[in-house]
Amino acid sequence: QTLRKLAQDDNLLIGSSIRYDPLLEDDTYQRLATTEFSSWTIENEMKMDAMQPEQGAFNFVKVDEMVQMAEEHDIKLRGHVLVWGEALPEWVSQQVVDRASAEQVLKTHIQELVTHYKGSIDTFDVVNEAWNDDGTLRDTIWLRTIGPDYIPLAFQWAREANPDAKLYYNDYGNEMSNAKSEAMLEALSNWKKDGIPIDGIGMQTHVDAADPRFSKNRIQEWFTRIEDAGFDIAVTEMDVKLQNLNNGDAKNVQAERFGDVMEVCLDTPACGEFTVWGISDNHSWVTEQESPNGKPLLFDENGQPKKAYNTLKRKL
Ligand code: XIL
Repeated sequence: QTLRKLAQDDNLLIGSSIRYDPLLEDDTYQRLATTEFSSWTIENEMKMDAMQPEQGAFNFVKVDEMVQMAEEHDIKLRGHVLVWGEALPEWVSQQVVDRASAEQVLKTHIQELVTHYKGSIDTFDVVNEAWNDDGTLRDTIWLRTIGPDYIPLAFQWAREANPDAKLYYNDYGNEMSNAKSEAMLEALSNWKKDGIPIDGIGMQTHVDAADPRFSKNRIQEWFTRIEDAGFDIAVTEMDVKLQNLNNGDAKNVQAERFGDVMEVCLDTPACGEFTVWGISDNHSWVTEQESPNGKPLLFDENGQPKKAYNTLKRKL
């Protein structure tokens, strides 16, 4: 049995973020990507610096190839990400100088991408990481030039380009009630009431196994509130890093965290996707950027399934 087959019976998409290079070069990675998962999130190749390295010169080549591979294996794609304060090409800081130029750049970027992938990618993380932990809006070039309106505008522009797309807001640290997630839910709900086409909320769910604030009950309460507010839910980037845990029980705790979030997702009808941020520990942003011993994923460096993988299977 694979995760993918088991998830199918639960009507759940089970996904991973996918990188272009190992997908082409690493046989184990490619095998796991195509057999274990039913959804791929483009990990980096669709970010603005990769997609529009020079103004107006769009580079669709790599994502087009990934789309083709996904289609061959009957895998659904999640577009990540249309608007973010990071991964910006250099020209943006020169060309985006006021509200008018910012709107023009963002609208063009969103609509070129959404139009190009119409029919092959129909779920997008439209806006990523717009809030700070204290509930204020994060200082990005888009907030500075356009103001908070950049968020609803981005959703409207995406909807214009593809009336059938599922449009998500995506963030980290928003999987339980706190200052950030409450501010997020209030603003998104108000916009939604005003007719802004926000279909769902993505919870990245980057977890530190040693974080004492983790609580399955609190996640369940929060998912139910988001569902009641009328949004679809996706777990979009789950990983569980280990570096701070010295009690010898790290792998069990990791498996339990994955299992808890999976259970919540399965128990929440609005939750239709459970995606992890990478396949194996040797191709992980945590290993590369956060903590070298974080080992946050479902498969080890050799592509062997870890305890967390077996726990997810048992839940499915
Ligand atoms: C990360 C990628 O995994 C890295 O390879 C890249 O160098 C930086 O970005 N939140 C997000 C993702 O929404 O886009 C980030 O991905 C991880 C945190």
